[in-house]
Amino acid sequence: MDKIIINGSKRLNGEITVQGAKNSVLPILVAALLVDGVSIIHNCPMLSDVDATVTILEYLGCKVEREGHTISVDSTDIKRYDVPDNLMREMRSSIVFLGGILGRMGKAVLSTPGGCEIGLRPIDLHLSSIEQLGVNFKTDGGFIDCSVGEKGLTGTKITLSFPSVGATENIILAAVLAHGTTVINNAAREPEISDLADFLNRCGAKIHGAGDSTVTVEGVKRLTSTEHTVIPDRIAASTYMIAGAITNGKICLKDIIPSHIGPTIQPLREAGCDIAVSGRWVCLSSPPRLKRIRMIRTMPYPGFPTDVQAQMMALTTVADGTSVIVENIFESRFKHIGELLRFGAKISAEGRMAVVEGVKHLNGANVKATDLRGGSAMILAGLCAHGATQITEIHHIDRGYEEPEKILESLGADIKRVKEDAKTEQSERGTQ
Ligand code: EPZ
Repeated sequence: MDKIIINGSKRLNGEITVQGAKNSVLPILVAALLVDGVSIIHNCPMLSDVDATVTILEYLGCKVEREGHTISVDSTDIKRYDVPDNLMREMRSSIVFLGGILGRMGKAVLSTPGGCEIGLRPIDLHLSSIEQLGVNFKTDGGFIDCSVGEKGLTGTKITLSFPSVGATENIILAAVLAHGTTVINNAAREPEISDLADFLNRCGAKIHGAGDSTVTVEGVKRLTSTEHTVIPDRIAASTYMIAGAITNGKICLKDIIPSHIGPTIQPLREAGCDIAVSGRWVCLSSPPRLKRIRMIRTMPYPGFPTDVQAQMMALTTVADGTSVIVENIFESRFKHIGELLRFGAKISAEGRMAVVEGVKHLNGANVKATDLRGGSAMILAGLCAHGATQITEIHHIDRGYEEPEKILESLGADIKRVKEDAKTEQSERGTQ
């Protein structure tokens, strides 16, 4: 398995462009199933989650072409409506295929995607929502077998008990070609929902209010080919800003959407960073010593994003004072704490609350990526630690960040990806 090696405490300086949004491109690629023709999607990040999504599209019968960051999906001849267990398990968010396949085929057989490192990831909101749209389903042995009733998918009013991102996306995907109008109350407001709606409206859908808590979807007869450019990844952008902050650096992100990272900018300013926003540029310069962040509470957008919790925790480990972090979205998203302690961080956690007492500096350590965002927190800690850090299990990081080591190296970090061939791995395993 590859690993990342970092020699820390190098100040980062320079400017970067941020990859396209993982959590946007995944539902948009699924939405291409609903289009009778070819969808051309630009600014797709090169990630293993994107690879997994493309594999499922091809299994269903789509013709997919990839050229750099552009993916073309021709779903004219799709035949299948089932996704086998091994493909569903590749990526937890494959549940969003449910709405796409139902919307196109009127039936769907998927395995229930397992939980993952950050939580059980139930799908009750997804299932209760599609049931209200006229879908009958039965769950048996880890499979969900769905089919629409004789009236087909029929628009209705749905109120979500929690503004679930995935459930909101699945409802939109199942409703765009349904008979009548669907109203989603308490919809998720994440920018990726708006990006999905923009893509579908460009194909001829009639979706209003995406990005607000009430979204209306007027069913249409068909969707036609279009081109679309995916929005910049606000989570990756936030991660790289924190890399600048934690190394006492000065970095600029160009061509991003500043309002999308507003929830991250506020705590970084509280930590003493100077952040300037102009057009699609955001520039950060960090003080010699970061100040503690009194309280970080993860909330649905536009609150502080749960996907930046681990990264912000890494920053607080070297801030002056005590910071408190409350994880309100996922029930076990603190797995990175154990690894941060190996750097010499001082963190105690109980339930959904972590208390971080800032230390003067971290020391390089051998750690592993516990999950996607926990892995990015290991990189951030390694960047500011004194001495060398080695990060294993980096396949988690490759799910959501496109070549992070190259981006950070361009900013002055001493960071390398080391490919471990089988022999070394075999011998290492042998000595363990
Ligand atoms: C999306 O996951 C993102 N993934 C996650 O990003 C992100 O953390 C999350 O939204 C919250 O912003 C993608 O977009 C691919 P949810 P999703 O449904 O849709 C509970 C990353 O790091 N819930 O909004 O799965 C659930 O257990 C990933 O890029 C139910 O109880 O998130 C969780 O506690 C990680 N029942 C909360 O809602 C349901 O039916 C939020 O889940 C669905 C969700």
